Amino acid sequence: MAHPHRATLESIKYSRTSFTLLDQRQLPFATVFDDVRTVQDVWVAIKEMRVRGAPAIAVSAALGIATAGRLKLEANEPEVQSVDGAKAFLLGSLDYVATSRPTAVNLFNAVSFMKNKVQEVAPTADTGAALIWKFVELAEEMYNEDVSFNERIMKHGAAHILAKRAATNADKKVNILTICNTGALATSRYGTALGVVRELFYGGNLEQLYACETRPWNQGARLTVYECVEENIPCTLICDSAAASLMKSKRIDAVIVGADRVCNNGDTANKIGTYHLAVAAKHHGVPFYVAAPSTTLDPNTATGDSVTIEEREPLEITHNLQTKQRVVAEGEHLSIWNPVFDITPGEIITGGIITEDGVVEPKAAAPFFDFGGAK
Ligand code: MRU
Repeated sequence: MAHPHRATLESIKYSRTSFTLLDQRQLPFATVFDDVRTVQDVWVAIKEMRVRGAPAIAVSAALGIATAGRLKLEANEPEVQSVDGAKAFLLGSLDYVATSRPTAVNLFNAVSFMKNKVQEVAPTADTGAALIWKFVELAEEMYNEDVSFNERIMKHGAAHILAKRAATNADKKVNILTICNTGALATSRYGTALGVVRELFYGGNLEQLYACETRPWNQGARLTVYECVEENIPCTLICDSAAASLMKSKRIDAVIVGADRVCNNGDTANKIGTYHLAVAAKHHGVPFYVAAPSTTLDPNTATGDSVTIEEREPLEITHNLQTKQRVVAEGEHLSIWNPVFDITPGEIITGGIITEDGVVEPKAAAPFFDFGGAK
């Protein structure tokens, strides 16, 4: 099932001389790459969603700290000359980036992995520079590993969906429904759920991708459609509220979504609107898949009940984000609630969870998933 893939859009452009991030707030109207030179730069890029998508957030945070450290060395800043100074800078920076957004566990997994590595390497490092360069290497490995996870998820997911296609549709190309953006823009290369769609398309097996617009930030309308248009992937944009009707009126072979955190029992935090897609899919007998690398797994969290769901500013709902005009009446008794993620219960993830190691199918009875962690 190996197919050549066209070069896709890139949100992370990294080398040892420069690190820039594509400002996704401006897509698809303008392609603007922002320089990342300090830890504050990468924190702001994550917080303001210039870079977004769970894997891209984690990789950018690591590369941002690596770049800031390298530039401090080049500028001979006293802070990073000693091992203790470099260690304090790295650990402090890791704690700081962890305050940017709360839901995607990839960021916290990356922070805790890097903190352990810094603690482990520091006693054997001769200089601050040696410790910083080790951090640079580890951040680069994280980026490369994410690319390889993308490739493996794409292949496992596409093969599984084709194998499980209803026998009556075995000779037909598949129709897929997705939400948010889980592609090249959200990861280091091809994507997770959208990566699976890419694999189906390049293998000649995709009839149509249906993309939910993904209110209020429109990651589907602005980003997923943009990726599809760039590569001529057949795509139909729908309003979020059209998804259940679509499942009733058209043959949808699978719903595939990404994840920001998969708990031990399979409960999955993902973009707001994912939960109702899973409920509608269950009602219509459409297999529902989550595609996510192992860096999105959180086996230490037993269920979705204890996941922190990010809530963002009311103006994402009250205003047209392009024109900045308010479109909602103001009122003393009006309140706005803008949670940007929801929890899909593991018990309605009927297709399975696609990781780089294969597809974990739900068990026949509760707990439907068990990643070997907290019970
Ligand atoms: O708020 P966002 O745009 O960062 O949310 C992104 C999602 O919910 C994605 O589905 C998830 O991070 C997986 S991206 C491969």
